[in-house]
Amino acid sequence: MTFTLAHLSDPHLAPLPRLRLIELVGKRVTGYINWQRRRRFIHDADVLGKIVADLKTQPADHIAVTGDLCNIALPEEFVRGAAWLQSLGAPGEVTVIPGNHDAYVRSTIGEPRRRWGDHMRGDDGAGEFPFVRRRGPLALVALSTAMPTGVGMATGTLGATQLARLGETLAALNREKLFRVVLIHHPPVSEAKWHKRLTDAAEFLRVIGAQGAELVLHGHDHLHMLNWLVGPNGTRVPAVGVPAASAAWGMSANSAAYNLYAIDGAPGAWTCEMISRGIGAAGAVIQQRRKKLFG
Ligand SMILES: [Fe+2]
Ligand SMILES: [Fe+2]
Repeated sequence: MTFTLAHLSDPHLAPLPRLRLIELVGKRVTGYINWQRRRRFIHDADVLGKIVADLKTQPADHIAVTGDLCNIALPEEFVRGAAWLQSLGAPGEVTVIPGNHDAYVRSTIGEPRRRWGDHMRGDDGAGEFPFVRRRGPLALVALSTAMPTGVGMATGTLGATQLARLGETLAALNREKLFRVVLIHHPPVSEAKWHKRLTDAAEFLRVIGAQGAELVLHGHDHLHMLNWLVGPNGTRVPAVGVPAASAAWGMSANSAAYNLYAIDGAPGAWTCEMISRGIGAAGAVIQQRRKKLFG
């Protein structure tokens, strides 16, 4: 039976909550200026509402959200993030990982776990990354690249501990013959400038090269992306990115969209078809693309 996984990312929930002057410190100052000058014209709550409403008409068995629910990580943004996640689906039906905007400043670094913890933990109840959720023939392997960085920086880092655990986890899930879906905020392959990249992308690609995965899903660059990573024994692993789920039409390179993955077949002979649905020029959500990734 076909299992359908939906993927959306980077909702960057708008509008920004009213903030107190005392909260406008450190990196939030430039983040706030950025929001007022540019980002508030891109991230649109109505557009996000249309994307979510359309997603709800689709036969999705599970929804993956790859981070950046916040903008400048104000305490209130995490509360709104929790309400939005709940509106998307129950914790068992929606898996979230944090993005760099959810770890924007040190003072609210514990908030994703505190507010979104139910949607952000493994089947065993553990919250450390990578955590694993098994759904049908799938194993979702959730990573975190989110860490506070300096002003003007949007990098992400997995770190040696998480990378080592990722390798062990992928190997174990491969022995279980599950369809392994890796969730990561930052793209492992990107054209973005160095200050927006995954700092240990080379190490991540080495783990995928050694242990493989069936699918890697990411956000962060706010673009439709498809890169083929090299797995063991000449296998190829698609790494797919989606635009920001709130991006208004014509305001950035790619307007709001999400992807559906119809997964079928059996271990060693999986099939996977990707369907992209997104906001069109007329303001309605339409099917943009249908592509067989493998099988
Ligand atoms: Fe983002
Ligand atoms: Fe990001």
